[in-house]
Amino acid sequence: MLQMESGNVSPARERGQEKGRSERPRPRERLELEIEKLAFGGNGIARRDGYVIFVSGALPGDRVIAEIGKAKRGYAEASAIEILEPSPDRIPDRCDHGGDPCPGAPWQGLPYDLQLEAKQDQVIDSLDRIGGDALAGYELLPIEPAVEQWRYRNKLEYSFGDHDGDLVLGFHARGRWDEIVDANDCLLASEANNRKRNEIRSWAEEAGLEAYDLRDRMGTLRNLVIREGRRTGQLQSRLVTSVAEIPRPPVDLHTMIEGESGNTDGPTGVLGAEHLLEELCGLEVMIGHRAFFQTNTEMAEILYGIAGEFADLSGGERVFDLFCGIGTLGLTMAERAGEVWGVEIVPEAIADAEENARRNGITNANFMAADARIGIRPLLETAGRPDVVVVDPPRAGLSKKIVRRLIECEAPRIVYVSCNPTTLAPNAVQLAEAGYRLRQVKPVDMFPQTPHIECVAVLEK
Ligand SMILES: C[S@@+](CC[C@H](N)C(=O)[O-])C[C@H]1O[C@@H](n2cnc3c(N)ncnc32)[C@H](O)[C@@H]1O
Repeated sequence: MLQMESGNVSPARERGQEKGRSERPRPRERLELEIEKLAFGGNGIARRDGYVIFVSGALPGDRVIAEIGKAKRGYAEASAIEILEPSPDRIPDRCDHGGDPCPGAPWQGLPYDLQLEAKQDQVIDSLDRIGGDALAGYELLPIEPAVEQWRYRNKLEYSFGDHDGDLVLGFHARGRWDEIVDANDCLLASEANNRKRNEIRSWAEEAGLEAYDLRDRMGTLRNLVIREGRRTGQLQSRLVTSVAEIPRPPVDLHTMIEGESGNTDGPTGVLGAEHLLEELCGLEVMIGHRAFFQTNTEMAEILYGIAGEFADLSGGERVFDLFCGIGTLGLTMAERAGEVWGVEIVPEAIADAEENARRNGITNANFMAADARIGIRPLLETAGRPDVVVVDPPRAGLSKKIVRRLIECEAPRIVYVSCNPTTLAPNAVQLAEAGYRLRQVKPVDMFPQTPHIECVAVLEK
């Protein structure tokens, strides 16, 4: 649980009440607040004379001391720095790193059934608030709980840092770009993933390598990404460094990356296999390090199963799989479809998708590397009208233009796999205005201990 010194605290509501109206708090001001409920995105909501404050690190029912970050006219953002009185619902944190709560598990203090309830409510709230009458009448199915509440992530991204001259490798502290909490046994990662990270940190320490420091642009080590084939036991580690000569690691790092940009997309120097082998829904799949792969393997199978049910294929349909990544979703449908056409913007992922079709003897799947915005019209010309379109976009959802292209497909059924109900809702409204009806929505918990919400929706013409 959070514990820090509280400093000077403004009594709740005091300043605002003097004038009979709420007053905007000042940045760094510390306030005592009661958390009412959870906001979309996972922060707690508190109010001071009607003025809304979003508090990270706090759960409904907590009484906290929070430090204000940004303060705008309509609302402020704050971080809980001390919990004065925990919510009666709170359970003890299970994952911490040297006493700091795991930044990757901000909802771990909330019992799992309440996490599920909050996610279900947030899907309803997004669809009803944003969708209004346009989406009215859909059936909301109960949220699918996760198979594993801990150690479910098949991919973790760690950052290097420095604590008083010691190399640390872990996660950014909540809301901090300049502070890394060292990870030893992160309960979101498997034991194998934790072992590999610790091995790489030991190697780096022995080699005398230092963390890259953004402030003075000195040092070498930036990030480490470890991805795991949960079914095959394979691990793929990618080290992102500044441009530097570094000793060859004794551990089997699959890929070394030199990145100047600060992200993990720098040029690649390959030391080992660039691909990870995994099994999913009975398929053997190759995952390149540049390609997206669902982060929770066990739940991806359930998610794909629900998408398959919503697609309701009977053997002869033409299916478009837009935003197809390495092709997995479409490939799991191929057996029950006439043909599958996948579109994806990352060319390396399309190469993986083609390889994945070949490996599994799937001959009715075709893939195209293109931005969906541009690629849908040529696809329609080549393939003809689809019976079902599956879309699985990133969190930002579909642009209005992509939805217009989707409407031009005139598919009787659209299956929408969404990792953000607040972008699903406006997309569904635009589709509803073009004659589609939102029929069913099923939330799926892919990310326990976090506020992330996935859901599958089906729309019909
Ligand atoms: C949420 S992932 C889904 C991938 C795949 N359906 C799966 O289940 O693994 C979204 C994918 O959309 C791709 N993408 C992002 N923007 C795109 C665009 N404008 N056109 C086509 N693909 C895009 C990303 O590279 C990523 O592979």
